[in-house]
Amino acid sequence: MAKIIGGITTSHVPAIGRAIAKGLQQDPYWKPFFDGFRPIHQWLAEARPDVVVLIYNDHGLNFFLDKMPTFSVGAASEYRNADEGWGIPTLPAFQGDAALSWQLIESLVEQEFDLTTCQEMKVDHAFTLPMALLWPDQKWPVRVIPVCINTVQDPLPSAKRCWKLGEAIGRAVAQWDIDDRVLVLGTGGLSHQLDGERAGFINKECDLRFMDSMVDDPQWATQFTTRELVEHTGTQGVELLMWLATRAALGEKVQALHRNYHIPISNTASGLMLLEPVA
Ligand code: DHB
Ligand code: FE
Repeated sequence: MAKIIGGITTSHVPAIGRAIAKGLQQDPYWKPFFDGFRPIHQWLAEARPDVVVLIYNDHGLNFFLDKMPTFSVGAASEYRNADEGWGIPTLPAFQGDAALSWQLIESLVEQEFDLTTCQEMKVDHAFTLPMALLWPDQKWPVRVIPVCINTVQDPLPSAKRCWKLGEAIGRAVAQWDIDDRVLVLGTGGLSHQLDGERAGFINKECDLRFMDSMVDDPQWATQFTTRELVEHTGTQGVELLMWLATRAALGEKVQALHRNYHIPISNTASGLMLLEPVA
């Protein structure tokens, strides 16, 4: 049976792509951020996932404001970066697994999530850069199943609903009758706001409380409405919903094998966690 071997949650910021393209990993601005991924590389070398369920938010690339699904799942055999010049200039294509995607879709629909299914899907920095941070040689050793949660246009799904989606993903993976080792990767957050009067807003206290809650009290953030989450973490900080769905997929108990928090990367408080389910 397929098994979820871990969860990784990380921020995604287009400027990371430029830093990778220019080889700035040792630059004083970037070093504390990139160094945070070293323990992740060690863990991945041992854990050897076969499949990544990648939970992220599209930023107006694959879905624009005219058509905005709340939840969507990719079912393509390949995904290509098309980030309008943001991020790394060229990246190898990402291998999908259409058959496995459809198994996930069928299970989620069965569990009453009415999804948009995408047999073609362009992927942006929220997908590509975390993959490049996990596998810096860009020889992706995994197949990827993208799951998108809308955090760019109101109304957003509630934190409670995203938690339930994550739980449903966990149940779906447990039903896969293959021996694949599955990593759940959630990208977004932590606090940041790119626009409006509060542009540049960061809330370290809330971010650290949220990171603690991922281990000690994982449904803590579900007490907040999305509007309250925006107040606490910024208009784009609400991307932490990806972390919540990822955490929910991991089951009741987890241990944190690694965490990093660094302010700022561009306008963002960047966070990173590696979580392992505890039986
Ligand atoms: C930034 C952060 C994001 O999450 C994003 O999608 C785009 C830009 C930033 O901090 O620059
Ligand atoms: Fe973003």
